[in-house]
Amino acid sequence: MSHGMRVKNMIKCILKTSDLIKERQTELLDIGFVPTMGNLHQGHISLLHEALKEFKTVYFSIFVNPKQFGPSEDFNRYPRTLERDIELIENTLIHFPDSKVIIYAPENPDEVFPKDRHQVISVNGLSTVLEGKIRPGHFDGVATVVYRLFDIIKPSKAYFGLKDYQQYLVIKQMVNDLALPIKIQGMPIIREIEGLALSSRNQYLTAEQKSTSLLLFNTLSIIKNIIDQKRVNIPKANSFITETLKDPNWNYLEIRDSETFSEDISHSKNITILAVYQMGSTRLLDNMQVEVQ
Ligand code: PAJ
Repeated sequence: MSHGMRVKNMIKCILKTSDLIKERQTELLDIGFVPTMGNLHQGHISLLHEALKEFKTVYFSIFVNPKQFGPSEDFNRYPRTLERDIELIENTLIHFPDSKVIIYAPENPDEVFPKDRHQVISVNGLSTVLEGKIRPGHFDGVATVVYRLFDIIKPSKAYFGLKDYQQYLVIKQMVNDLALPIKIQGMPIIREIEGLALSSRNQYLTAEQKSTSLLLFNTLSIIKNIIDQKRVNIPKANSFITETLKDPNWNYLEIRDSETFSEDISHSKNITILAVYQMGSTRLLDNMQVEVQ
């Protein structure tokens, strides 16, 4: 039997929620879960890889969630590449011959949000600053879909990229607030060699925009170097930020406490520099963590 065949037997792609729930009921062991919106790249695959290291069965969702897109955002043009995504998952599974991946890829939003369910999950405070201020309702959409996916899939642990740092904090807070028995694991940002964080939205960039986009990573790196792990250097970093923000393409560039997300970082041990740089209609999101003493 060829490798490909063997791997195929260990992957199931399920489109209907009722089928997924049936499949889930056959599973006796704890499972890991990786939620995504598809159009997979090595950032997503790094989450899958980590999940497969810890669990024999991993559930992997591919669902472009309409609730987290604003009315003028890219929901309709968001790239949908299911066949290719399945291939990437197969290629990862080759390294884990005893494991299996259940892909949940509902195409119809009604599968995830039945018409008779009106629940909205909203994490107060965290959801209305920075990214949440620019994209009103976005984190409610994220929390609502992740809660629903957790409810259907019932994982012991779920994996999220630190690329979307505010999202990661929102999900951790939701799990805390609702006392869900699910561990949330944050995973390092996967970047291109030059530094640009991998993102499904990078493919919207022209060649010229792509080279300009390095400004985002470079700026975060400069600020990290200015701070140099020392709290006394933060005022210097803030002056650099003020100067940088004269370029109107920055949606924001801010330092916050990594745990509380407070702007008051006077006692922080770990801080996060968060930024969005706008290139045409594409918003590039990134962040960098710095330990300070
Ligand atoms: P999506 O943008 O597809 O990302 C899925 C997961 O991959 C998220 O946890 C995200 O942080 C992570 N990820 C994306 N790019 C990454 C990179 N370069 N390095 C490491 N991890 C990366 O985030 C979402 O989907 C949605 O909001 C979702 C949580 C699925 C809810 O709809």
